[in-house]
Amino acid sequence: MKNTIKKKVRSTRQKFNKIKEQDKALYELLQAEQKRQSDSLELIPSENIVSKAVLEAMGSILTNKYSEGYPGARYYGGNEQIDKIEELARGRLKKLFGVPYANVQPYSGSPANMAVYIATCEAGDTVLGQHLFDGGHLTHGWKSSATAKFFNTVQYHVKKDGYIDLDEVGRLAKEHKPKLIWVGATAYPREFPFKELGKIANSVGAYLVADVAHIAGLIVAGVHTSPAKYVDIITSTTHKTLRGPRGGVIMVTSRGLKKDKELGNKIDKAIMPGSQGGPHNHTTAAMAVAFGEASKPAFKRYGKQIVANAKALADELMRRGVKLVSDGTDNHLIVMDCGKGRGAIVEAALDVAGLTANKNTIPSEPATPFFPSGVRMGTPSVTTRGMKTREMKQIAKWISRVLDIVEEYDLPDTNMADKTTYMKKFKREIAKNKEMLALRKEVQKLCRAYPAPDTLV
Ligand SMILES: Cc1ncc(COP(=O)(O)O)c(C=O)c1O
Repeated sequence: MKNTIKKKVRSTRQKFNKIKEQDKALYELLQAEQKRQSDSLELIPSENIVSKAVLEAMGSILTNKYSEGYPGARYYGGNEQIDKIEELARGRLKKLFGVPYANVQPYSGSPANMAVYIATCEAGDTVLGQHLFDGGHLTHGWKSSATAKFFNTVQYHVKKDGYIDLDEVGRLAKEHKPKLIWVGATAYPREFPFKELGKIANSVGAYLVADVAHIAGLIVAGVHTSPAKYVDIITSTTHKTLRGPRGGVIMVTSRGLKKDKELGNKIDKAIMPGSQGGPHNHTTAAMAVAFGEASKPAFKRYGKQIVANAKALADELMRRGVKLVSDGTDNHLIVMDCGKGRGAIVEAALDVAGLTANKNTIPSEPATPFFPSGVRMGTPSVTTRGMKTREMKQIAKWISRVLDIVEEYDLPDTNMADKTTYMKKFKREIAKNKEMLALRKEVQKLCRAYPAPDTLV
C-alpha cells in the first residue's frame, strides 16, 4: 500500500532513560510494549493514543501530593495549586458538555458509576440498565458485578435489528419503578435514544444517567447527540474517544439539579468520603490538558473522521459478506458476528496479523461471555494516527482475509477445559501460518507510515 502521509509526523515514542538506568527488567517490558503499540493497529474501541502533553501531565510531580476533599475544602495543607488545577479541569469539562456541575475525581469509569448509585439509591433499590450481552456495561447491573449484589437490577435488551427496545424499557420501567435508569453501553454501535429514555424516566420518577464512557469524544465533537438536555446525570471515562488519561468524571445537568438541587453535593460526598480517598492529581492535570485539546477545532475534525472511518470499515466488511450487529454503525465501533462461540478464535488470529481487537458478546448471545460469538472493533486510535477511509478499506480487506483463513477452525462444543486446550493449540498453529505472517508484514508497513503523532491540537 502506498504511503499516503504528507508531512513528517513527530511520534510520541518515549525513551525511558531513567528507568533504563535503574530498572532493566521494566525497561525491556516498556520497550516491548512500545514496539507492540507502534507496530500493530489498535482497533479496540475503548483505547486511544494520548498526546505528549497528556503524558507529561500524567508523569508529573503532582503524583506526590495528597488532597482529600475538594477545592477550598481539603483535609491536607499545601493544596493551593492543586485547587487551581482541579478547578481548571472542572471548568473545562463543564464547558465542553454545557452542564452546571462536574466532579473530576473518580479513579475511573466503574468507580464513577458506583458513586452515582451511592448518591441516588439505598441498598436494595431497583435499577434498570442495558443487558451485558446487548452491549451494556458490567456496572449497569450485570449479575456478576457488585451493583447486582447491592441493588435489585433489571436489564433491558436490544431488538432483533440491534437497536434498543424502547417498548421493553417503557414496560420494565412501569412494572419495576426503578430509582435509576442507565443509558450508555460498551458495545452498542448505534445512536443512544436519550430523548425517548428521558421521557420514560420522568414518567416513573427515575433518575436517568447517561454513561457516555465510549462516546464522550463524539459528543464533544458534535457527531453524537448530547445527553445534557435529556438526562439528570452523566458519567464518563476520559481515556476512550475523549483521548485523555485513564480516569472518570461525573456531571449533573440542569435537569438533574432541577429534580434535586442537592444532587451535585450528593455526588461529591459519594466520591469522598463515600467511596474514594485522595484524588489522583496528576490525572486531574492530564484531564485538564485533554479537555483543553478537546475544545479545539481540530478535535471536531477528529470526531467526524472517527465516525467516517467506522462507517467505511463497516461498509467494506459488509460488502465482503461479514455480518455486523445492527448491520452497521452510527458511532466509533462495530461488532462482528463471527458465528457461535468463535469470537476468541477470530480475536487471536487478528492479533497474529497485528490487528488488535477484542472478543465480545452479541445480542442474545448463543455462547458464553468468555467464549462469545462476536468481535468488537473501533476507529478512535487509528484515526488519531491520521488514517482515513482509504486505509479503513484496506484494514477491512485484511480482516476479511483473516476470517477466511480461520474459517475451518471451531471450538469444541463440550466444556471450558476443552475449549481452553483447543485455544492454546490454535494459537500455536496460527502464529506459524505463512499467510498470516505475510499479512502482519503488510500491517506493519501501514503502521510505520502512520506513527502516533505527539501533538494533537
Ligand atoms: C460504558 C462503560 N462504562 C464504564 C466503563 C468502566 O470504565 P473503567 O474500565 O475505566 O472502569 C466502561 C469501560 O469499558 C464502559 O464501556
